[in-house]
Parts: sequence; structure tokens; C-alpha cells
Amino acid sequence: MRQNQVSYPGLFITFEGGDSCGKSTQVALTHEWLKSRGVTPVLTREPGGTDLGEKLRELILHGPDDMDPRTEALLYSAQRSYHMATKVLPALEAGEVVLQDRYLDSSVAYQGAARALGVEEILELNLWAVKGLVPDVTILLDVDPEIAYARRTGEPDRLEREPNSFQHRVRKQYEELARRYSDRYHIVDASKSIDEIQTEIQQILTPFLEDRLSGANR
Ligand code: TYD
Repeated sequence: MRQNQVSYPGLFITFEGGDSCGKSTQVALTHEWLKSRGVTPVLTREPGGTDLGEKLRELILHGPDDMDPRTEALLYSAQRSYHMATKVLPALEAGEVVLQDRYLDSSVAYQGAARALGVEEILELNLWAVKGLVPDVTILLDVDPEIAYARRTGEPDRLEREPNSFQHRVRKQYEELARRYSDRYHIVDASKSIDEIQTEIQQILTPFLEDRLSGANR
């Protein structure tokens, strides 16, 4: 069931999960798979996805340590509103497939639950920001934060510097979102191998893409 107040001929796919769950790798592999099957999706991410969004991303992830949680929440929703209005919705209206790394569920899990700003308030703020546009399919890469932590590489950003309990709250909230929006959520066990996870994602997405996928590499 599509809960959108917005209707369009495209397909809106989002990927969600805690930090270092392997999401970016899987988004890239899914992108390659779709292209090999004749579908060229609009590949995008949040925070980011537009020039303004990428500037805000830098400020959010590497901004001052004393950033107020509400400021953080508003910056995420501000970049999201612009991203949706200028890139995501136009693509969906043109009938395209949008493959997006993180969307409003990230704000619900991170700002609403982990930062304890209130799940319903953050959901409402973000639904307002995007005029009610929700994904058709959400892939949740679920993994124990301790396993994810061990995979981490590079310098941690502001969010990654939070204690492990933060990521446990994020995970718990994603589980609740998956229950609440079971019509669009698909949970994948992200402790499995990269290949196993990608195979599962392809199986989940195939029915949604049936009319668009070419026979090549089938
Ligand atoms: P990123 O480097 O993209 O991390 P990941 O590879 O885990 O997606 O950084 C995004 C960070 O911002 C990540 O810690 C999750 C967080 N975030 C929020 O807290 N709220 C949001 O609405 C979004 C989109 C991301």
C-alpha cells in the first residue's frame, strides 16, 4: 500500500540502517545491478544529494560539538525538503527509479529516538518538510552495533563519536519503524556476507521492478 499523499509513475527506494551497517556498499552494488539490467536509477543520498545538501552535510557532520539537537534535526529536515523538491520528486514524476541512501526514517531513528527529541514530533516535522512523500520500498540493513563498530574505517564524524548506546537506540527505533510500516519495510540481516546481502536485496526489489528490468544477465 502506498501511503503517499503524492502520486507519481516512478519508484522510490530507500536504504536505511545504523552507522557502518554496510549500506553504502549495498547501495553501490544495487546501482550496478540495476544498470546491468537496463535500469538507470537516480542515485542519491542524504544528507546531501544536491549542492545545497552537500554543503549542509559538511556543516551537520563536521560542525560544532555544541550543536543543539534541535538545530541538527532542523538542518537534516532542511536539506531533505530541498532534495525532495528539486531532485527526488521531479525524478519520480518523470517515471524514474530513485535509489536513495537514507531518508526521513534516519531522522526518526537518530534525532527522534537516539537524540530523544520525540519520534512523533520528528516524523511530523519531516513529513511536513517533504509534503508527505514516503518511499515505496525501504531496505533496512539490520546488524548489531558492536559488529558494525568493528567494521568502521576512517575518522569518525560527529554522529559516529556518540557512545554505543546511541547506536542501540537507533537500531531499536528502526525495528519499530519496520513494524509500523511493514508494507514498505524489508529487513535484511546485515551480518551476512556482502554477496548474500546483495542477493537478498535483488530478490526483494525484483517484483517492484519486473516491468522495467531487461532480460540481460538474468
Ligand atoms: P554517512 O557518512 O552518510 O553515514 P552512513 O554511511 O552511515 O549513512 O553519515 C550520515 C550520518 O548522519 C549517519 O551517522 C546518520 C546520520 N543521519 C541522521 O542522524 N539523521 C538523518 O536524517 C540522516 C539522513 C542521517
